[in-house]
Formats: sequence, structure tokens, C-alpha cells
Amino acid sequence: MKNAALITGASSGIGRELARIHAEKGNDVIAVATNTERLQSLKDELERSHGISVMTITKDLTVERAGREVFDTIRQEGIEIEYLINNAGFGGQGKFHERAWESDLAMIRLNIIALTELTRLFLPGFVARDSGRVLNTSSTASLVPGPLQAVYFATKAYVTSFSNAVASELHDSKVTVTNLMPGATETGFARTSGMEKTDLFAKMVSARSVAEDGYNAMMRGDLDVISGLSFSQRMMLRFAPFVPRHMIMDQVRKGQEVPA
Ligand SMILES: NC(=O)c1ccc[n+]([C@@H]2O[C@H](COP(=O)([O-])OP(=O)(O)OC[C@H]3O[C@@H](n4cnc5c(N)ncnc54)[C@H](OP(=O)(O)O)[C@@H]3O)[C@@H](O)[C@H]2O)c1
Repeated sequence: MKNAALITGASSGIGRELARIHAEKGNDVIAVATNTERLQSLKDELERSHGISVMTITKDLTVERAGREVFDTIRQEGIEIEYLINNAGFGGQGKFHERAWESDLAMIRLNIIALTELTRLFLPGFVARDSGRVLNTSSTASLVPGPLQAVYFATKAYVTSFSNAVASELHDSKVTVTNLMPGATETGFARTSGMEKTDLFAKMVSARSVAEDGYNAMMRGDLDVISGLSFSQRMMLRFAPFVPRHMIMDQVRKGQEVPA
């Protein structure tokens, strides 16, 4: 495979657009998600339109050792990836103590464990050959606490902290780690997370524009990129550290309330 990018969550939304962008440039894609049909339709589309190769791996990344199994599959095929894009993730609305623990546990396993495991498995190879780029899809949610999505915001705080720290550890290598922080984006995310009717998702940007921002930042080796926020949202985030926390959380909580 040529310039292969392993993209988790490539079957829809931001991940699908990242796969399209990578393929448009003549590069090969390894697409990972749980929905085999959607992965197959992506493969058909990209191979037909761009003459590249797409390998699909149907894998539930919430299952223990799923990251290891993806790594082993790729190694057995003798493929060396150049880009690792940890993008799969989901959220979940509701008060923490009322939500199903199994859902939050699966969220932690996908948003944190799978992302960390895949990075740990692929990074030594990148460092040994002094080439390779990692793009982790975090969220603007990583920058503040998130009442009514407490676990989701916390998982994304982990992703931003982890991505930035590992990027710094690699400061003297050509390997880069970029952290993508989208705002509300038009994908399956709002529905999956039970957030469709909330104020937070009243205005959304396209998955394509977020994917372009993330992909370009990854190619430049940037540390962070925020994508898809309005001017007022950007200002709010910039000044958030200087505003009393309970005021920020009141605002976030209201934005995430589902109207009765
Ligand atoms: N949309 C937003 O407003 C927004 C804002 C900030 C950050 N983000 C982040 O952006 C990333 C992509 O989400 P999206 O907005 O593009 O949502 P999406 O359209 O729902 O896509 C999520 C992707 O993750 C995959 N996925 C879900 N559960 C999985 C599992 N157990 N194992 C493997 N793959 C799994 C899904 O594939 P299958 O269904 O085939 O498994 C799908 O390809 C997520 O990390 C999300 O947290 C989204």
C-alpha cells in the first residue's frame, strides 16, 4: 500500500471525509469501523474514483484488545502505515448518575483506550524510521467540563492532554501528533449521542470542512486545530479560563439540555 492511512471511524462523518481527502491525493486507506456495509461502500467509492487501494477492517473498538487485533492484521499483511488517524468516538447525553454505565464504559473504551492502544502500538515503528503522522480527533469539549455529557467531555480532555504531551515528547523527531478539536459538526454524532434537539447542535458545520482543517493541520505537523466554531464561541473558549467555572458550566449545561 502507498502512503497508507489507518482511519478509525471511517464509515461515516468526519472519518469518512478524512478518508476521501486522503484518497483524492492518490493515497491508500485502511478503514476501520463496525459497519461492514458502509465500509464496503466507502471502499467501492474510493477505489472507483481515485484508483487507490482500500483495506477495510470491521472491528468493534470498544472490545478489549481490539486495537491489538487491528495492529496484528495490518502487520500480517506486511503493510507499513504512514498516518494513524484515531477518529472513532461517540458521546452520550444525560446526568452521569442516571446514564447506563455500560454506555459510558464503552465510550471510555473507544474514545480513550482504543486511541491510546493504537498510538502505543504504531508509534515505535514511526519513531524508529523517523517518519509518520498521528491525527487524533478530540473536541472543543476537551477544553471545559461538560455537564450532561460529563464522561464524553472528560474523555476528550484526556485526548487533548495525551496528544499534546506525546507530541512534545517527539519534539526532536520528524513524527508529529496533531489534535483536532471540532465544534458541532453535521454527522451521525448528534443522533448517536442523543443531542439532536439541543441548542449546542442548532448550528453545525460540514464534516468536510472539519476534515480538511484536521488533515491540513496534520500535514503541517501542527499541535492543535480548532475547527467549526463561530466567532462568539471562539471568544468564549479563549476567555473561559478567566471566567468563574460555575458560569461556564451553567452555559454548557443549558446548551446540552434536551427540550421536554
Ligand atoms: N460531530 C460533532 O459534532 C463532533 C464534535 C466534536 C468532536 N467529534 C468527534 O469526531 C469523531 C467522529 O465523529 P463524527 O462526528 O464523525 O460521528 P459519526 O458520524 O457518528 O462517526 C463516528 C464513527 O465512529 C465509528 N464507531 C463508533 N463506534 C465504534 C466502535 N465501537 N468501534 C469502531 N468504530 C466505531 C462509527 O462507525 P460504525 O458506526 O460503523 O461503527 C463512525 O464511523 C468522534 O471522535 C467525535 O467524538 C464530533
